[in-house]
Amino acid sequence: MCGIVATVGHSPAIPVLLDGLRRLEYRGYDSAGLAVARDGGLTVYRRVGRVRELAAQVPEDLSGSVGIAHTRWATHGEVTEANAHPHLDGVGRIAVVHNGIIENMGALKARLQADGVVFRSETDSEVLAHLISRYFEGSDPAVPADDPVAAVRAALRVVRGTWGIAVLFADHPDLIVAARNGSPLVVGLGDGQSYLASDPHALVAYTRRVVFLDDGEVACIDANGVQTFHVDGGVVDNNVETLEDVWGDEGRGAYPHLMLKEIHEQPEALDRCLSGRVVPENGTAKLGGLDLEPRDLARLTRVGLLGCGTAYFACQVGAQLVEQLARVPAKAEIASEFRHRNPVVDPDALFLAVSQSGETADTLGAVREIQVKGGTVMGVVNVVGSSIARACGRGVYIHSGPEMAVASTKAFSNMVAAMAVFTLMLARQRTLSAHEGRQYVEELRAVPDLVRRYLADPGPIDTLVKWVTDARMVLFLGRGLSAPVAAEGALKLMEVAYVPCIAYPAGEMKHGPIALLERQSPVIVVAPRDELRDKTLSNLQECKARGARVALIHTEGDEIADLADLSIPVPATSPLFSPLLTVLPLQLLAYRTGLALGRDIDRPRNLAKSVTVE
Ligand code: F6R
Repeated sequence: MCGIVATVGHSPAIPVLLDGLRRLEYRGYDSAGLAVARDGGLTVYRRVGRVRELAAQVPEDLSGSVGIAHTRWATHGEVTEANAHPHLDGVGRIAVVHNGIIENMGALKARLQADGVVFRSETDSEVLAHLISRYFEGSDPAVPADDPVAAVRAALRVVRGTWGIAVLFADHPDLIVAARNGSPLVVGLGDGQSYLASDPHALVAYTRRVVFLDDGEVACIDANGVQTFHVDGGVVDNNVETLEDVWGDEGRGAYPHLMLKEIHEQPEALDRCLSGRVVPENGTAKLGGLDLEPRDLARLTRVGLLGCGTAYFACQVGAQLVEQLARVPAKAEIASEFRHRNPVVDPDALFLAVSQSGETADTLGAVREIQVKGGTVMGVVNVVGSSIARACGRGVYIHSGPEMAVASTKAFSNMVAAMAVFTLMLARQRTLSAHEGRQYVEELRAVPDLVRRYLADPGPIDTLVKWVTDARMVLFLGRGLSAPVAAEGALKLMEVAYVPCIAYPAGEMKHGPIALLERQSPVIVVAPRDELRDKTLSNLQECKARGARVALIHTEGDEIADLADLSIPVPATSPLFSPLLTVLPLQLLAYRTGLALGRDIDRPRNLAKSVTVE
């Protein structure tokens, strides 16, 4: 979601701030801004649009070695310059950048306005600037005036919601105050220069020595390092860590877009996810990060899988794998719904929180709810050291490598692969013989090459692009493991190309969505060779009978190709691993349709890469 970067020390701030914003832009990109302490005041720049538009306005040689910056994904208030961060207090002496949401903004704003404060934006974040300013000026006798840390702490004690903030004071141009509650922040420790960012990715060019802030903490950062406090008082002992496995900025390489690059990285990414984890000799798998012995696996009563968006569809695949192969009851749930229904958490169940970014607020909320209720939850996460990975403590890294395009592709595949590995481990302990296990291991290990082979010759995707570019609506259908694949295909086409799509389990189509079909309506049916294929084909016929034209994603060599108006074959694998193949044409369809329609493929409108608000 929004990105924060800040620096304090003796070197020029502007290059660090702009470089950091560029690295964080994939998180949110509707406007950007920065503030630098210089000449006894604060110099502020804000622009609607991309970081490059902000950079074009800011003199590279602007003096000042202390500053804060922000790239925004709008929550409160439209995308305007006035709503871009930093936000200032009434006299322009305090600047705040904020990720998260202030839930009691309405009441606080009304109170401040009644006291004569004039608001310049529609954002919730501006409330923070005015509140901090009041305490800083000594409005509360219990809070020492002119004390930046005390003012921030006092302000945060009256707000409700989530925040990662960085605050710059014109009267203390040698420090930055930061605070975290539900929105990640990491402090970087350099030599005579310190840094702050919402994502370690923005810091690695400068330092690998970092302190992750925890919820409820306030940090005072200067050139020499960081001092951390609890928001309610008391000093925190900082745990300085060394960033080992943080991705650099790899760029697009030879590809025109990050999304296409990431689609093509899937064979290597899958290899990384599987290597060292499947044990061919015993037909099983080992996931050290889960720290589960066979005895623990034997005690498991059920498996719950939680995620949002693409991760949720991967969870749906995972749940079916676990039930089908390991015969353990398993359920996928949308993480953003989970904690609001006061769920019953079985202490003998294992929950998996599935997330590429590891920062999705709803998934993190679900993790906390499970923990509060005494359940066991582990992460299936891509970003090492992310909030979900840290909150869970134990888990599986999916090892996709950096996924920087907003639309998730290779992370979906690696989530599915990681859950397939987990399933093998569980199934071997319960249902599978060594011989059966070895067959599955062999098939799973063959998948990366099959993906490579398909991507080298993906079939008539461009014909399908022509069908969908002008369509009023595209219907995606699949059954069993192919139902979540169909849903993922629809999500991808909607978010990258802005084409309205509906995805349905194929058998449900006749219970309603069939009413939408007209002559030439495009329908995309996912039907690999599995035990449900023939049933899906009946639904395909129902579509054709209404004049719809049907594209069929099917297993290579399957005679059903002739039933469709357009056939897109994918290499054969075990039906259980078919989602790793059938999703590929759908990813390419979204990419190429976005391209044909002139969309901003890597930065689709209204979206952000990691969704750190509820
Ligand atoms: C779709 C997409 C989103 C994410 C969702 C969860 O392409 O990227 O639907 O899948 O926001 O994100 P993570 O996996 O980071 O928790």
